[in-house]
Amino acid sequence: VVAAKIAPSMLSSDFSNLASEASRMLRCGADWLHMDVMVLVLDSTPKHFVPNLTIGAPVIESLRKHTTAYLDCHLMVTNPLDYVEPMGKAGASGFTFHVEVSRDNWQELVQNIKSKGMRPGVALKPGTPIEEVYPLIEGENPVEMVLVMTVEPGFGGQKFMPEMMEKVRVLRKKYPTLDIEVDGGLGPSTIDVAASAGANCIVAGSSVFGASEPAQVISLMRKSVDE
Ligand code: DX5
Ligand code: ZN
Repeated sequence: VVAAKIAPSMLSSDFSNLASEASRMLRCGADWLHMDVMVLVLDSTPKHFVPNLTIGAPVIESLRKHTTAYLDCHLMVTNPLDYVEPMGKAGASGFTFHVEVSRDNWQELVQNIKSKGMRPGVALKPGTPIEEVYPLIEGENPVEMVLVMTVEPGFGGQKFMPEMMEKVRVLRKKYPTLDIEVDGGLGPSTIDVAASAGANCIVAGSSVFGASEPAQVISLMRKSVDE
């Protein structure tokens, strides 16, 4: 029912050639470009959300100058509210924050994201129960996508966790038209499990960038979701 969105994760691209990597993926049939924003917290405030450091708003802004593509931004930061304005200005299309760090301010966050012209989404780590996102979907200012992490966030190239598919099934049953995104370990060998559980937005980093024919991998995943 819900159209497939195939979103190569630029985390697996050659960052020194980001614009050409992006256009290569679009030529190969990508719908979205998935941008993993990670920040290391260097002061004494709560520990960082993930033990890695990737890209931020300045890089999104540079890429935006080269493409009109939907930039699906996944914020793995402890303080997503601080990034709404910079990401909006940089040209992000979707802004997906983690529920684990937004329990007290998600309403303000969603409102801010929308006011900057971005599409709000909420992500959850493997250990977080799916019930936690229900209020964000059902409120009067709802998120428009739920990202179910299928690995521990932080790095590309990890193994898909099939036990997360129960979350996707429950969500799909409850919300037939919701965009449900899966992220981590997706590729030709795991797509069918994810698609039949009900995921329609598919993030894939290493399986796409590591393929000799990324277009084939993308079209295979699209078929699995759409059939
Ligand atoms: C991990 C990121 C993912 C990652 C996926 O924290 O959120 O987007 O790039 O990479 P693969 O597809 O290689 O698991
Ligand atoms: Zn991601």
